Amino acid sequence: MLEKMGEFFDSRLEGYEEHQLSCIDSAKEFYPFTASCLPQTSGAHILDLGCGTGLELGYYFKIFPEAIVTGIDLSSRMLDVLRNKYPDKSLTLVAGSYFEVPFGECVFDAAVSVESLHHFSKEEKVPLFKKVRRALKPGGFFILTDYFSLSEEEEQLHRSKFLRLKQEQGISDVELYHYDTPLTVDHEKEALLLAGFDLVTVLKHWGATYTLKAAKLH
Ligand SMILES: C[S@@+](CC[C@H](N)C(=O)[O-])C[C@H]1O[C@@H](n2cnc3c(N)ncnc32)[C@H](O)[C@@H]1O
Repeated sequence: MLEKMGEFFDSRLEGYEEHQLSCIDSAKEFYPFTASCLPQTSGAHILDLGCGTGLELGYYFKIFPEAIVTGIDLSSRMLDVLRNKYPDKSLTLVAGSYFEVPFGECVFDAAVSVESLHHFSKEEKVPLFKKVRRALKPGGFFILTDYFSLSEEEEQLHRSKFLRLKQEQGISDVELYHYDTPLTVDHEKEALLLAGFDLVTVLKHWGATYTLKAAKLH
């Protein structure tokens, strides 16, 4: 049964961090690596899309405890954990969908998203990435760590299976449902370029998990 996205993560809170770090290949490397790609200055303004309980943020706070972070997540229970973990940090947490929450213009030095965007299509991502780009200051950048389909066939298989499940379960509303539909890295890069980012590069990868950097030069 497909579950609504927020409810899916709300109900899997117990053992969530341990699961992420022990069951996902190379997680103990890509979380600190992602944090190390964020601005290397104290007090940078960071936007985290799908921050969850803040695994990537924990590694960043270790390097830059003065970071000023806005985190957006559909799961209010994940956000409660994050808030309670870091009562002394500058954290603004918004419970809602990053497709709907306004980000502002030219306000962040960097944006980050880890293991969240593999639920969405290229068509859904382009307007979101445009919104992320607008929210970055000139010279800002977006660090995206996620897992990807290794071929177009694999990408299409995930998408068609998701659509079939929705049809079988009579789901026709516009709510977000949890199902993994990772794009290929090439399609993700295309979405970022279509959104207006000037330069998109692969910084590192571990099997199917990649860290991409999308830069807004001006
Ligand atoms: C696998 S967790 C990753 C959380 C965190 N970034 C990490 O790596 O531990 C995916 C998160 O994305 C959030 N999410 C998925 N779609 C979202 C959306 N449209 N808007 C906001 N959050 C979303 C989920 O609620 C969940 O907390």
